[in-house]
Amino acid sequence: AEGDAAAGEKEFKKCKSCHMIADGDNSIVKGGKTGPNLFGLPGRTAGVGDFKYGKSLAAVGETGLAWDEAEFVAYVANPKDWLKDKLDDSKAKSKMSFKLKDADDAANIWAYLVSVSPE
Ligand code: HEM
Repeated sequence: AEGDAAAGEKEFKKCKSCHMIADGDNSIVKGGKTGPNLFGLPGRTAGVGDFKYGKSLAAVGETGLAWDEAEFVAYVANPKDWLKDKLDDSKAKSKMSFKLKDADDAANIWAYLVSVSPE
């Protein structure tokens, strides 16, 4: 189902302790620095950017994987299991331990991230 960006904006409250959304100096959502800036995430290569990513997520990025809705929803449901699956490595590690199990909420947050993305 199509996500609801307005609902996703509210649900992003669960993420902002660790993630900001900032276009350079233009802050869209003030958030923590424990995780990477999620501005422009849709279409962006995983594990690439101005953040010290874990080895496993960086390795997924090296395979060329770019974030789309399906990968995003699967990742946030269980980052560690997603990394294990993508890398076919039972020892894969995630720096993000937070899990968002509700796929509808995740789809809403995805729609919100798309709505604040550059063209
Ligand atoms: C990474 C989404 C909550 C900490 C990521 C990435 C996404 C994401 C898509 C990968 C980014 C990339 O490849 O550039 C979300 C969403 C959240 C959420 C939608 C809320 C629903 C949190 C929370 C924390 C956190 C609450 C901290 C307690 C991190 C960290 C990474 C990360 C440390 C880097 C992972 C690594 O390098 O292995 N997050 N996140 N996230 N997130 Fe979150």
